[in-house]
Amino acid sequence: MMFEYRPLHPRFGVEVIGADLSQTIDDSGGAEILEAFETHSVLLFRGPVLDDEQQLAFSRLFGEVQVSFSGNQSGATLFSRQSNIDTATDTLMAPDHRQMKYQEGNRLWHSDSSYRPAGSKCSILSAHETPPSGGDTEFVSLRAAWDDLSEEMKGRCEGLSAMHALSYSRSLTGFKMTPEQEAEAPSAMHPLVWVNSNNGRKNLFIGSHASHVEGWPEGEGRQFLTDLLDRATEPSLIYAHAWRDGDVVVWDNRSVLHRATPFDATRHRRLMQRTTIVGDAVPAL
Ligand code: OGA
Ligand code: MN
Repeated sequence: MMFEYRPLHPRFGVEVIGADLSQTIDDSGGAEILEAFETHSVLLFRGPVLDDEQQLAFSRLFGEVQVSFSGNQSGATLFSRQSNIDTATDTLMAPDHRQMKYQEGNRLWHSDSSYRPAGSKCSILSAHETPPSGGDTEFVSLRAAWDDLSEEMKGRCEGLSAMHALSYSRSLTGFKMTPEQEAEAPSAMHPLVWVNSNNGRKNLFIGSHASHVEGWPEGEGRQFLTDLLDRATEPSLIYAHAWRDGDVVVWDNRSVLHRATPFDATRHRRLMQRTTIVGDAVPAL
C-alpha cells in the first residue's frame, strides 16, 4: 500500500494520507485510490487548495466529468460551484438571491444527479474558502442502511423502482424552476436496491430526488421512501465533515447520501467547487 488510511466513521469513509492531489498520481497510486473508493464510499484528502486544472486531472481518475445543470452558479460547465459569494461582485449574496434559494436544496439528503438516467458515479468537492464554524457536509452510507434492514424489509424493497426528479426535490424547498430548467432536468427511474459490481455490496438507493415508487399510489410510495430515508439518516449513522481550506472529499453517489448544513452566510464566505463524474448504468438485481 502506498497510502495510509484513517477511518472517518465506523461504518464507512476514510481519510487517505500521503496522496498529493496537486501532482499526477501514478497508475498504482490511482488503482489504490479507486479500490479504496469502491470499498469505503467516502475519501478525504487534506492538502493545499487545488486549482481547477488539478481538480479536473484528479477527477478524471474516476471517469468522465459531467457538465453541470445550467441553473447552478457556475452554469453549464465542468464545475458546480457551491457558494454564497456573488462571482460578479465578489461580495456575499443576500439570503433571498435566487442562487441561495437554489442551494437550499442541498440541505436535503441527496445523491447528486440521481435524476439523470445514468446517475453519477461520484462527486469531488474541494474547499476553497470555509467559514469559521458551521457549513459541515454530512454523509450517510446507503450500504449501512441496507444492512440494517430486517430480512422482511429487504424482501419488500427488492424489485421496486423509484422515480427521481430534480423538479420534485426543488419543489420541497419552494424553489420554482423556469420552464427551460424544467425541460433540462429530466427525471429517471432507478431500482431501489443497487449492487456494486466490484464487490457485490448491496445498498438502498433513495434520497430527496426520489418522489415515488413505480406502480404504487403516490402517497403510499412517498411514505415508504420517507420511512427508509429516516432510518438511513439516523444520527448515529452520520459522518459530519468539518471542512478546512484545501480539503477534497470524494463520495460515491451510488452508495452514499449527503447534505449541506447551515452556517452564518450573511457574515462568512464559503466557496466549494465540485466536479461530478458521469454514472454508468448500475445493474439492477
Ligand atoms: C454538493 C453538495 C454540500 C455542501 O456539492 O453536491 O451538496 O455542504 N454540497 O456544500
Ligand atoms: Mn450535492
